[in-house]
Amino acid sequence: MFEKDPTTRLWAVSSVAAFLLAALSYFFLFGQRSKKKYKYPLPPRSGYGFLETFQHFNSTKLHEWTLEVARTRGRIVEMNLWPLLPRDTLYAVTDPVVARKILENPRSLKPRELYEFFDRMMGGVCFISEEGERYKHPRKSTLMGISHANMDDMLANIHAVMDKWIQDNLGSEEGDVACVDIGFEMQKATIHSIGLIAFGYDFSTAEQEFTSNALAKITYEFGIASEKNPLRKHPIIGLLWADKREAIRCVEDVRCLVRKVLQAHRNKSFEEQKKVVTLNSLDAPGKYDEIGGEESLLSDMILLYAAGFDTTGYTISYALVELCKNKDIQTQLRKELLDATQDPKDKKLIGSPLLKRVVKETLRLWPVAAGGGIRRVPDKMIVTSDDGKGGKRLMTLPKGSWAHVAPYPLLRDDEVFDRPDEWLPSRWENATDDMKTAFMPFMVGRRSCPGQLLAITESEVFLARLVRDYEWTLIEESIPEWSVTLKIKGTILQATKIG
Ligand code: HEM
Ligand SMILES: *[C@@H]1O[C@H](CO)[C@@H](O)[C@H](O)[C@H]1NC(C)=O
Ligand SMILES: *[C@@H]1O[C@H](CO)[C@@H](O)[C@H](O)[C@H]1NC(C)=O
Ligand SMILES: *[C@@H]1O[C@H](CO)[C@@H](O)[C@H](O)[C@H]1NC(C)=O
Repeated sequence: MFEKDPTTRLWAVSSVAAFLLAALSYFFLFGQRSKKKYKYPLPPRSGYGFLETFQHFNSTKLHEWTLEVARTRGRIVEMNLWPLLPRDTLYAVTDPVVARKILENPRSLKPRELYEFFDRMMGGVCFISEEGERYKHPRKSTLMGISHANMDDMLANIHAVMDKWIQDNLGSEEGDVACVDIGFEMQKATIHSIGLIAFGYDFSTAEQEFTSNALAKITYEFGIASEKNPLRKHPIIGLLWADKREAIRCVEDVRCLVRKVLQAHRNKSFEEQKKVVTLNSLDAPGKYDEIGGEESLLSDMILLYAAGFDTTGYTISYALVELCKNKDIQTQLRKELLDATQDPKDKKLIGSPLLKRVVKETLRLWPVAAGGGIRRVPDKMIVTSDDGKGGKRLMTLPKGSWAHVAPYPLLRDDEVFDRPDEWLPSRWENATDDMKTAFMPFMVGRRSCPGQLLAITESEVFLARLVRDYEWTLIEESIPEWSVTLKIKGTILQATKIG
């Protein structure tokens, strides 16, 4: 009867076709979990589909979303970017113990695919996105310049920067009042100091302003806009967007400036060059022969320059904003600083325990590298974490999967930190082992931040000098936004000179 009635046959065939289509689209929409069987099941899924995940990864609210996922879905969850990535490839890892274990394993490599946007920002391959020989020499050179052995030189340069910045921006007589866009101003000052410390180059105010503005456009285009819309990455089609064209011009201008910095260094006498530890080591003869020549050297210089200012500048800005909101702590800190010494350049100033706690708590609550990093899990791991239903269970992190470790949710973990969303420097008076384990604003391990000693020293010196001699008040607050780093723009503070 089936064979005889063409209408029925058509109906049957189209039902089967519709079913296949539905099954196929289900497969395409949701992907498939790995077929491999594990004794302990894989981590729970985030519950967000491809589109939502993709949208959040390119958003200026990425930090808030990673925190929401950790708090509502679990500390280790699968992120669905299928079909861009196969299922069970990318896990958000917000559990401090597991994150540390992955980062500290010397065989945890960076997946190049996910770091490539840095190369687009620098206009050439730079070492943050590389593994193997390509990263070793520049990283070692950075660590030589930014070290305890070089501390006196770093301190002298940081104080020179503060002298000039205070003179240019704040009042000098008791009661003098000045207002500053703190994020912008601290970026200029930190550009000034990374220039002196890493390159032995004295960036003019105009060069500082140019760098800050250019890098803001570059990070937004390559860190967010191009990631959201991959057509913008295309070398020709991408030129249809005016912002992309502008960002490319900015990259060229920054490369041009850094070329000048390198030339100025090479023009110096041998003795003078030796004093600039980082650049002198970077530019040692033959070191780039096998790894891309002078163009790679320039890309690495831009990486140091870009990574070394915006992060630290915003950390100092967040600390000042919190000190404005917590006037009692600001007053207490000022007293501790004045009691320590009368000389603003005395090393005792940065020995203040409250100052150290203020910097530490700011790095916790406002970790500027909020998006963190990604590592390939080198061996299968069995871990205990949230089951996604309010309990805990054992689970398997498969070998070769990618772990995304984001400091923002990690440093606000509510099992580790009491009142995690509040800025409470006193919590570090009696830090628990769990707090110490979780504290990784610079990440840890082989590829942690090589600039962290400079970042902390600079934050301490700037804050000591700015809080000792000025009373700070919040005039206008802006909302933090993420684009490669967590930025506050347009926050206005008022500084009144103290007698
Ligand atoms: C508060 C300030 C800073 C914070 C929070 C911070 C944070 C970080 C983090 C979390 C990473 C690791 C990213 C990853 O694993 O993918 C990193 C890498 C890096 N940071 Fe920093 N950083 C700061 C300041 C600096 C400074 C002052 C420099 C100056 C040179 C710098 C240079 C670098 C470089 C070159 C890398 C790449 C290292 C590598 O790939 O081996 N950072 N930073
Ligand atoms: C990220 O992508 C979504 C969807 O395309 C868009 O609505 C959102 O504005 C993007 N975020 C940013 C910061 O561009
Ligand atoms: C380096 O020296 C050359 C030749 O003396 C000079 O033309 C050039 O302007 C100098 N460059 C910088 C950046 O100082
Ligand atoms: C830290 O411990 C000391 C000694 O036990 C105590 O006096 C102090 O109040 C504690 N501080 C905080 C913030 O809990």
